[in-house]
Amino acid sequence: MKKSVVARLFAMSLAAVMTMGLLTACGGGNAASTEPADTKEADTQVEAEAEESKTEESTEAAEAETESAGTEEAGAEVSEALADGVLTVGTNAEFPPFEYVDDNGEPDGFDIALIKAIGEKLGVEVTVENMEFASLVSSIGSKIDVSIAGMTVTDERKESVDFSEPYYEAVQYVILPADSEAATAADLTGMTIGVQLGTTGDFIATDDVEGSVVQQYNKGVDAVNDLINGRVDCVIIDKNPALVFESKFEGQIKAVDGAQFEFGAEEYAIALPKGDTALAAQINSALEEIKADGTFDELVKTYIEQE
Ligand code: ARG
Repeated sequence: MKKSVVARLFAMSLAAVMTMGLLTACGGGNAASTEPADTKEADTQVEAEAEESKTEESTEAAEAETESAGTEEAGAEVSEALADGVLTVGTNAEFPPFEYVDDNGEPDGFDIALIKAIGEKLGVEVTVENMEFASLVSSIGSKIDVSIAGMTVTDERKESVDFSEPYYEAVQYVILPADSEAATAADLTGMTIGVQLGTTGDFIATDDVEGSVVQQYNKGVDAVNDLINGRVDCVIIDKNPALVFESKFEGQIKAVDGAQFEFGAEEYAIALPKGDTALAAQINSALEEIKADGTFDELVKTYIEQE
Protein backbone atom coordinates (compact mmCIF):
# COMPACT_ATOMS: atom_id res chain seq x y z
CA MET A 1 0.00 0.00 0.00
CA LYS A 2 2.48 2.59 1.20
CA LYS A 3 4.80 1.70 -1.59
CA SER A 4 2.37 2.56 -4.37
CA VAL A 5 1.73 5.97 -2.84
CA VAL A 6 5.46 6.56 -2.72
CA ALA A 7 5.76 5.42 -6.32
CA ARG A 8 3.02 7.81 -7.39
CA LEU A 9 4.56 10.77 -5.54
CA PHE A 10 7.91 9.96 -7.03
CA ALA A 11 6.37 9.80 -10.50
CA MET A 12 4.51 13.06 -9.90
CA SER A 13 7.62 14.89 -8.86
CA LEU A 14 9.51 13.54 -11.85
CA ALA A 15 6.67 14.61 -14.14
CA ALA A 16 6.67 18.04 -12.56
CA VAL A 17 10.40 18.36 -12.91
CA MET A 18 10.16 17.19 -16.49
CA THR A 19 7.51 19.78 -17.26
CA MET A 20 9.70 22.43 -15.72
CA GLY A 21 12.47 21.12 -17.94
CA LEU A 22 10.27 21.62 -20.98
CA LEU A 23 9.22 25.08 -19.87
CA THR A 24 12.75 26.20 -19.16
CA ALA A 25 14.43 24.32 -21.98
CA CYS A 26 15.39 27.54 -23.74
CA GLY A 27 16.98 28.92 -20.60
CA GLY A 28 19.44 26.02 -20.65
CA GLY A 29 18.11 24.58 -17.37
CA ASN A 30 18.82 20.91 -16.90
CA ALA A 31 16.04 20.24 -14.42
CA ALA A 32 14.86 17.02 -16.06
CA SER A 33 18.01 15.19 -15.07
CA THR A 34 18.11 16.54 -11.53
CA GLU A 35 17.97 13.92 -8.80
CA PRO A 36 14.44 13.86 -7.36
CA ALA A 37 15.86 14.24 -3.85
CA ASP A 38 17.30 17.64 -4.76
CA THR A 39 14.05 19.03 -6.07
CA LYS A 40 11.80 18.61 -3.07
CA GLU A 41 11.27 22.36 -2.43
CA ALA A 42 10.80 23.00 -6.12
CA ASP A 43 7.99 20.46 -6.29
CA THR A 44 5.22 22.55 -4.76
CA GLN A 45 5.69 25.53 -7.03
CA VAL A 46 6.25 23.38 -10.05
CA GLU A 47 3.21 21.22 -9.48
CA ALA A 48 0.90 24.19 -9.94
CA GLU A 49 2.60 25.04 -13.21
CA ALA A 50 2.42 21.43 -14.28
CA GLU A 51 -1.31 21.44 -13.66
CA GLU A 52 -1.73 24.44 -15.93
CA SER A 53 0.34 23.21 -18.83
CA LYS A 54 -1.83 20.32 -19.93
CA THR A 55 -0.49 20.12 -23.44
CA GLU A 56 -0.46 16.71 -25.08
CA GLU A 57 3.31 16.56 -24.94
CA SER A 58 3.54 17.11 -21.23
CA THR A 59 0.78 14.59 -20.57
CA GLU A 60 2.59 11.99 -22.64
CA ALA A 61 5.87 12.77 -20.95
CA ALA A 62 4.21 12.48 -17.56
CA GLU A 63 2.69 9.13 -18.49
CA ALA A 64 5.99 7.79 -19.74
CA GLU A 65 7.68 8.93 -16.54
CA THR A 66 4.97 7.38 -14.41
CA GLU A 67 5.52 4.03 -16.08
CA SER A 68 9.27 3.98 -15.75
CA ALA A 69 9.20 5.33 -12.22
CA GLY A 70 6.69 2.62 -11.31
CA THR A 71 8.92 -0.10 -12.67
CA GLU A 72 12.02 1.24 -10.97
CA GLU A 73 10.21 1.47 -7.66
CA ALA A 74 8.85 -2.07 -7.87
CA GLY A 75 12.23 -3.44 -8.92
CA ALA A 76 14.09 -1.66 -6.17
CA GLU A 77 11.66 -2.63 -3.44
CA VAL A 78 12.62 -5.73 -1.46
CA SER A 79 9.85 -7.91 -0.12
CA GLU A 80 9.68 -8.51 3.61
CA ALA A 81 9.39 -12.19 2.80
CA LEU A 82 13.04 -12.07 1.69
CA ALA A 83 14.34 -9.87 4.51
CA ASP A 84 15.81 -12.89 6.33
CA GLY A 85 17.71 -13.92 3.19
CA VAL A 86 15.72 -17.13 2.91
CA LEU A 87 12.89 -17.97 0.53
CA THR A 88 10.85 -20.77 2.09
CA VAL A 89 9.09 -22.66 -0.66
CA GLY A 90 6.26 -25.12 -0.23
CA THR A 91 5.78 -27.98 -2.65
CA ASN A 92 4.20 -31.41 -2.84
CA ALA A 93 6.93 -33.68 -4.16
CA GLU A 94 4.54 -36.24 -5.63
CA PHE A 95 4.31 -34.81 -9.09
CA PRO A 96 7.05 -35.94 -11.45
CA PRO A 97 8.75 -34.44 -13.42
CA PHE A 98 7.94 -31.14 -11.70
CA GLU A 99 8.64 -32.35 -8.17
CA TYR A 100 9.51 -35.68 -6.63
CA VAL A 101 11.71 -37.01 -3.86
CA ASP A 102 15.11 -38.07 -5.21
CA ASP A 103 17.22 -41.06 -4.16
CA ASN A 104 18.70 -39.06 -1.29
CA GLY A 105 15.28 -38.20 0.06
CA GLU A 106 15.48 -34.60 -1.17
CA PRO A 107 12.82 -32.81 -3.23
CA ASP A 108 13.98 -32.41 -6.83
CA GLY A 109 12.43 -31.82 -10.25
CA PHE A 110 11.81 -29.01 -12.72
CA ASP A 111 10.01 -26.73 -10.27
CA ILE A 112 12.63 -27.20 -7.56
CA ALA A 113 15.44 -26.40 -9.99
CA LEU A 114 13.49 -23.40 -11.28
CA ILE A 115 12.84 -21.90 -7.85
CA LYS A 116 16.49 -22.46 -6.87
CA ALA A 117 17.55 -20.58 -10.01
CA ILE A 118 15.16 -17.79 -9.03
CA GLY A 119 16.61 -17.74 -5.51
CA GLU A 120 20.09 -17.43 -6.98
CA LYS A 121 19.05 -14.43 -9.08
CA LEU A 122 17.50 -12.81 -6.00
CA GLY A 123 20.51 -13.60 -3.83
CA VAL A 124 18.54 -15.59 -1.27
CA GLU A 125 18.80 -19.11 0.02
CA VAL A 126 15.95 -21.44 -0.96
CA THR A 127 14.58 -23.99 1.49
CA VAL A 128 11.93 -26.44 0.34
CA GLU A 129 9.12 -27.70 2.56
CA ASN A 130 7.41 -30.84 1.28
CA MET A 131 3.74 -30.90 2.31
CA GLU A 132 0.32 -32.00 1.15
CA PHE A 133 -0.82 -30.31 -2.03
CA ALA A 134 -4.14 -29.31 -0.49
CA SER A 135 -2.32 -27.41 2.33
CA LEU A 136 -0.08 -25.29 0.13
CA VAL A 137 -2.33 -22.32 -0.62
CA SER A 138 -3.39 -21.84 3.00
CA SER A 139 0.23 -22.10 4.22
CA ILE A 140 1.46 -19.19 2.11
CA GLY A 141 2.34 -16.24 4.31
CA SER A 142 2.67 -18.38 7.43
CA LYS A 143 4.59 -21.67 7.11
CA ILE A 144 5.93 -20.86 3.66
CA ASP A 145 6.68 -17.73 1.66
CA VAL A 146 5.61 -19.06 -1.74
CA SER A 147 4.61 -22.31 -3.40
CA ILE A 148 5.85 -23.95 -6.57
CA ALA A 149 4.01 -27.18 -7.23
CA GLY A 150 2.85 -27.40 -10.84
CA MET A 151 0.06 -25.27 -9.50
CA THR A 152 -2.57 -24.18 -11.98
CA VAL A 153 -3.74 -20.58 -11.84
CA THR A 154 -7.45 -20.64 -10.95
CA ASP A 155 -9.90 -17.89 -10.02
CA GLU A 156 -10.69 -19.62 -6.77
CA ARG A 157 -7.04 -19.75 -5.68
CA LYS A 158 -6.63 -16.13 -6.75
CA GLU A 159 -9.05 -15.21 -3.98
CA SER A 160 -6.42 -16.21 -1.41
CA VAL A 161 -3.08 -15.85 -3.20
CA ASP A 162 -1.44 -13.98 -6.05
CA PHE A 163 0.39 -15.73 -8.87
CA SER A 164 3.64 -14.99 -10.68
CA GLU A 165 3.63 -14.80 -14.45
CA PRO A 166 2.78 -18.29 -15.73
CA TYR A 167 5.81 -20.45 -16.58
CA TYR A 168 4.32 -23.60 -18.09
CA GLU A 169 1.26 -24.64 -20.06
CA ALA A 170 -0.55 -27.80 -19.07
CA VAL A 171 -3.72 -29.81 -19.58
CA GLN A 172 -5.34 -32.63 -17.66
CA TYR A 173 -4.89 -36.15 -19.06
CA VAL A 174 -6.99 -39.24 -18.47
CA ILE A 175 -5.13 -42.38 -17.45
CA LEU A 176 -7.04 -45.51 -18.42
CA PRO A 177 -6.38 -49.26 -18.34
CA ALA A 178 -4.28 -50.09 -21.42
CA ASP A 179 -7.18 -51.95 -23.05
CA SER A 180 -9.86 -49.31 -22.36
CA GLU A 181 -11.82 -47.96 -25.29
CA ALA A 182 -12.98 -44.75 -23.58
CA ALA A 183 -12.27 -41.88 -25.96
CA THR A 184 -14.79 -39.06 -25.47
CA ALA A 185 -16.24 -36.99 -22.63
CA ALA A 186 -19.43 -39.09 -22.75
CA ASP A 187 -17.41 -42.26 -22.08
CA LEU A 188 -16.37 -40.88 -18.67
CA THR A 189 -19.98 -40.55 -17.49
CA GLY A 190 -20.60 -42.46 -14.27
CA MET A 191 -16.99 -43.59 -13.90
CA THR A 192 -15.20 -43.98 -10.59
CA ILE A 193 -12.35 -41.51 -10.98
CA GLY A 194 -9.12 -41.34 -9.00
CA VAL A 195 -7.60 -37.89 -8.41
CA GLN A 196 -5.10 -36.12 -6.18
CA LEU A 197 -7.04 -34.23 -3.52
CA GLY A 198 -7.54 -30.51 -4.18
CA THR A 199 -6.12 -30.51 -7.70
CA THR A 200 -7.72 -29.27 -10.89
CA GLY A 201 -8.11 -32.94 -11.86
CA ASP A 202 -10.22 -33.31 -8.72
CA PHE A 203 -12.32 -30.26 -9.65
CA ILE A 204 -12.93 -31.55 -13.19
CA ALA A 205 -13.84 -35.05 -12.00
CA THR A 206 -16.16 -33.65 -9.35
CA ASP A 207 -17.77 -30.75 -11.22
CA ASP A 208 -17.61 -31.59 -14.90
CA VAL A 209 -17.97 -35.35 -15.28
CA GLU A 210 -21.57 -36.38 -15.08
CA GLY A 211 -22.44 -39.02 -12.50
CA SER A 212 -18.82 -39.46 -11.44
CA VAL A 213 -17.79 -41.10 -8.18
CA VAL A 214 -14.57 -39.37 -7.15
CA GLN A 215 -11.86 -41.09 -5.07
CA GLN A 216 -9.41 -38.57 -3.68
CA TYR A 217 -5.82 -39.54 -2.83
CA ASN A 218 -3.02 -37.59 -1.20
CA LYS A 219 -0.62 -38.83 -3.88
CA GLY A 220 -1.33 -39.18 -7.58
CA VAL A 221 0.66 -42.41 -7.70
CA ASP A 222 -1.74 -44.01 -5.21
CA ALA A 223 -4.63 -43.25 -7.57
CA VAL A 224 -2.67 -44.86 -10.39
CA ASN A 225 -2.00 -47.95 -8.27
CA ASP A 226 -5.72 -48.23 -7.57
CA LEU A 227 -6.40 -47.96 -11.30
CA ILE A 228 -4.03 -50.87 -11.88
CA ASN A 229 -5.76 -52.82 -9.09
CA GLY A 230 -9.16 -52.11 -10.65
CA ARG A 231 -10.44 -49.94 -7.78
CA VAL A 232 -11.02 -46.91 -10.01
CA ASP A 233 -11.93 -46.71 -13.72
CA CYS A 234 -9.59 -43.87 -14.64
CA VAL A 235 -7.33 -41.20 -13.14
CA ILE A 236 -7.46 -37.52 -14.08
CA ILE A 237 -4.08 -35.86 -13.61
CA ASP A 238 -1.86 -33.33 -15.38
CA LYS A 239 -0.22 -34.27 -18.68
CA ASN A 240 3.44 -34.63 -17.66
CA PRO A 241 2.88 -36.71 -14.52
CA ALA A 242 0.44 -38.84 -16.56
CA LEU A 243 3.19 -39.50 -19.12
CA VAL A 244 5.68 -40.35 -16.38
CA PHE A 245 3.21 -42.83 -14.85
CA GLU A 246 2.42 -44.29 -18.29
CA SER A 247 6.05 -45.15 -18.86
CA LYS A 248 6.55 -46.32 -15.27
CA PHE A 249 3.64 -48.78 -15.56
CA GLU A 250 4.18 -49.54 -19.23
CA GLY A 251 1.69 -51.91 -20.83
CA GLN A 252 -0.78 -51.67 -17.94
CA ILE A 253 -2.13 -48.16 -18.44
CA LYS A 254 -2.33 -45.50 -21.12
CA ALA A 255 -2.41 -41.70 -20.84
CA VAL A 256 -4.89 -39.94 -23.10
CA ASP A 257 -4.85 -36.22 -23.94
CA GLY A 258 -7.62 -34.42 -22.07
CA ALA A 259 -8.36 -32.26 -25.12
CA GLN A 260 -10.11 -35.38 -26.37
CA PHE A 261 -12.38 -35.15 -23.33
CA GLU A 262 -12.87 -31.41 -23.77
CA PHE A 263 -10.59 -30.36 -20.89
CA GLY A 264 -9.23 -26.83 -21.30
CA ALA A 265 -5.66 -25.50 -21.18
CA GLU A 266 -4.13 -24.65 -17.79
CA GLU A 267 -1.14 -22.57 -16.75
CA TYR A 268 1.31 -23.19 -13.94
CA ALA A 269 2.57 -20.27 -11.88
CA ILE A 270 4.25 -19.68 -8.54
CA ALA A 271 1.72 -18.88 -5.81
CA LEU A 272 2.62 -15.77 -3.78
CA PRO A 273 1.30 -14.02 -0.69
CA LYS A 274 -1.63 -11.84 -1.65
CA GLY A 275 -0.69 -8.19 -2.09
CA ASP A 276 3.10 -8.60 -1.89
CA THR A 277 3.71 -6.72 -5.12
CA ALA A 278 7.40 -6.28 -4.34
CA LEU A 279 7.89 -10.04 -4.15
CA ALA A 280 5.85 -10.57 -7.31
CA ALA A 281 7.98 -8.02 -9.18
CA GLN A 282 11.22 -9.58 -7.93
CA ILE A 283 10.16 -13.13 -8.81
CA ASN A 284 8.78 -12.11 -12.21
CA SER A 285 11.93 -10.30 -13.20
CA ALA A 286 14.10 -13.23 -12.07
CA LEU A 287 11.85 -15.54 -14.11
CA GLU A 288 12.21 -13.26 -17.11
CA GLU A 289 16.01 -13.32 -16.81
CA ILE A 290 16.00 -17.10 -16.48
CA LYS A 291 13.98 -17.36 -19.68
CA ALA A 292 16.14 -14.83 -21.53
CA ASP A 293 19.51 -16.38 -20.59
CA GLY A 294 18.58 -19.92 -21.66
CA THR A 295 18.41 -21.41 -18.14
CA PHE A 296 14.71 -22.12 -18.49
CA ASP A 297 15.15 -24.11 -21.72
CA GLU A 298 18.00 -26.05 -20.12
CA LEU A 299 15.73 -27.04 -17.24
CA VAL A 300 12.98 -28.10 -19.67
CA LYS A 301 15.52 -30.31 -21.45
CA THR A 302 16.93 -31.77 -18.26
CA TYR A 303 13.71 -32.48 -16.43
CA ILE A 304 10.80 -32.59 -18.85
CA GLU A 305 11.88 -33.56 -22.33
CA GLN A 306 13.76 -36.64 -21.21
CA GLU A 307 10.65 -38.17 -19.64
N1 ARG B 1 -2.00 -28.57 -11.76
C1 ARG B 1 -2.84 -29.19 -10.80
C2 ARG B 1 -3.40 -28.18 -9.84
O1 ARG B 1 -2.93 -27.10 -9.73
C3 ARG B 1 -2.14 -30.29 -10.02
C4 ARG B 1 -0.92 -29.88 -9.29
C5 ARG B 1 -0.41 -30.95 -8.37
N2 ARG B 1 0.89 -30.64 -7.91
C6 ARG B 1 1.59 -31.35 -7.03
N3 ARG B 1 2.80 -30.94 -6.75
N4 ARG B 1 1.11 -32.43 -6.48
O2 ARG B 1 -4.33 -28.44 -9.15
